[in-house]
Amino acid sequence: MSKKIAVLPGDGIGVEIVVQAVKVLDCLKSDFALNIEMEEGLVGGAAYDDSKNPLPEATLQLAKESDAVLLGAVGGYKWESLDIAVRPEKGLLGLRSELELFANLRPAILYPQLAHASTLKEEVVSGLDIMIVRELTGGIYFGQPRGIRTLDNNEKQGFNTLVYKESEIERIAHVAFETAMKRDKRLCSVDKANVLECTELWREVIQRVAKEYKEVELSHMYVDNAAMQLVRAPKQFDVMVTTNMFGDILSDCAAMLTGSIGMLPSASMDKNQKGMYEPIHGSAPDISGQDLANPLATILSVAMMLRYSLAEESLAIKIEDAVESVLNQGLRTPDICTDADTKVGTEAMGDAVVSALRA
Ligand code: IPM
Ligand code: MG
Repeated sequence: MSKKIAVLPGDGIGVEIVVQAVKVLDCLKSDFALNIEMEEGLVGGAAYDDSKNPLPEATLQLAKESDAVLLGAVGGYKWESLDIAVRPEKGLLGLRSELELFANLRPAILYPQLAHASTLKEEVVSGLDIMIVRELTGGIYFGQPRGIRTLDNNEKQGFNTLVYKESEIERIAHVAFETAMKRDKRLCSVDKANVLECTELWREVIQRVAKEYKEVELSHMYVDNAAMQLVRAPKQFDVMVTTNMFGDILSDCAAMLTGSIGMLPSASMDKNQKGMYEPIHGSAPDISGQDLANPLATILSVAMMLRYSLAEESLAIKIEDAVESVLNQGLRTPDICTDADTKVGTEAMGDAVVSALRA
């Protein structure tokens, strides 16, 4: 039976990079018998412009009835002054929460071909292979109450709430431990238990779940130290698990270790492995529409989709091999390009991956 994929390009470079990822999926359909159908929908600023809603009902419906969602990026200068309730980012957060995509997997892998592109010394990052497991539907990004209120003295006060229930911590803990079991069996849980009660509970629940995974070596780290350790000695980490906000921040930090945020894919999954797949970078309005964006993170997100939601491991590997092959050919988008490389645009990079798939 054919599987359905919702394609949501979103805004900015999201539009260009998703075109390249769709090319890759089309190639898998035509040349490798992948049985899928794709349907496009609007999300983010593009959806707001169309209907004043960053997550229209039709898009939510499409995402719900699909087996997987491919998303580009949302947001841009144009929508920055809108009320927070209808900003493009709400479209993305709404999808994550409506689809209950609580487990966000963000691998940070350094391709040897790009070791010199990192701003860190080659010996610090070469061989890097970290998996960040970010809780995605709870914590301070969703906690109530939230808002901006006016105090008695007429001064305004902004407030958000960091909340986690035991069940929310437990389910992300299981994903993290299972992930560690398939890797080097080391898990570092990142919190701020010295200051925040909510993450004191986080630590307690992680320790409780750890009893079911005796083979996994568990450690705990405060988030400030984790940020420092990530740039000091990143190879000490195998799997990291953390809250929504800490994961947001640490994954950008880990991304840069690999040379460019333009290389990193992500998977956001529910309890049944249904997932949304997106690059971890944003919509980069400063370079959008100029054929400058790196489509590899999105193409690698398609590989994650094949692996986790479509049970097509061999095709996932084919895509990853094709990406390696274009890097070996010396092809680079501007974000990862040095003088020794051949600079290509978004479109040419997508075409090169398709050619490598067919080779
Ligand atoms: C990410 C992004 C999003 C987030 C934004 C665009 C809402 O930064 O996926 O990391 O904060 O989660
Ligand atoms: Mg982020």
